[in-house]
Amino acid sequence: MGLKLADGLLAQELARVQGEVDAQFDALLPVPGDRRARLVEAMRYAVIGGGKRLRPLLTVATADLFGVDRETSVRAGCAVEAIHSYSLIHDDLPCMDDDAMRHGRETTHLAFDEATAVLAGDSLHALAFEILIDPAMSGDPFTRCELVECLARASGHAGMAGGQMMDMIAEEEGGEGFDLQAITRLQQLKTGALLGAAVEMGAILGKLAREGRAHLHAYSRDIGLAFQIADDLLDVEGDEAKAGKALRKDADAGKATFVSLMGADAARAQARALVDQAIGHLGSYGEEAELLREIARFIVERDR
Ligand code: IPE
Ligand code: IPE
Ligand code: MG
Ligand code: MG
Ligand code: MG
Repeated sequence: MGLKLADGLLAQELARVQGEVDAQFDALLPVPGDRRARLVEAMRYAVIGGGKRLRPLLTVATADLFGVDRETSVRAGCAVEAIHSYSLIHDDLPCMDDDAMRHGRETTHLAFDEATAVLAGDSLHALAFEILIDPAMSGDPFTRCELVECLARASGHAGMAGGQMMDMIAEEEGGEGFDLQAITRLQQLKTGALLGAAVEMGAILGKLAREGRAHLHAYSRDIGLAFQIADDLLDVEGDEAKAGKALRKDADAGKATFVSLMGADAARAQARALVDQAIGHLGSYGEEAELLREIARFIVERDR
């Protein structure tokens, strides 16, 4: 997909997971021959054929450390991606960011209608947990429950939705009262929580005990923050055609972000420092963690 780091392992693995995720959603979402057809068409529109698929790639790359079979980790990655896609449908609605473009095409509420877009988001939210609780996910019910717990916590008020609430307030208040600490907290929830769940679910599938996950937590905390700093930098400096979404929205809205608080250069330096730190947390792994290292580097150098 013409990525900046177009050569090598990362580009290859991104392309592979993109194909697998599309195929999985295609199989999961046949269009019914009744009046729900529009809903499922809208779900398919939002979830097939767009997006970098970074979250599924994180799940697969983490699960690979522990030799989890590919079909299983792709499935779990699709559950995280279903939540992510739902969050984007709702994020683009007129009552939130009111955006017209996503993944280089019309947002779901414009391609369909607002009510259908709300329902498509709701249904993708439910689908995520259907995927995880299906015995096809894992023969071990404890593993399935742990996956559900992890993704549920990362999605709701203690995670993504909570962060979206803070983000709306940061916009309403024009950033007043939002210092670096408050913005960090906001971003950890809004963006970091789902990226963290993507990594943790790979560890759950790998049956890594909770006590053994600290270095992976630290890795995902650092890349999560770096990811959102990069999104905020893209908003200021990016190319809309490449990003496939409207940019220059944050400053227009007077929203507090890392970039508005620190300036672009310091924000970029901070993102790069976080990536180095993230890679440092993988020190106990060898070659097998190279993809996780490349993902960390890509997160700050990406142009979309
Ligand atoms: C965009 O996420 C929204 C944020 C959480 C900042 P991505 O940049 O991962 O979106 P897609 O799925 O690749 O379009
Ligand atoms: C959206 O953040 C984050 C979630 C959907 C959880 P943004 O509003 O910054 O994302 P973009 O810039 O629209 O992709
Ligand atoms: Mg938003
Ligand atoms: Mg938005
Ligand atoms: Mg943004």
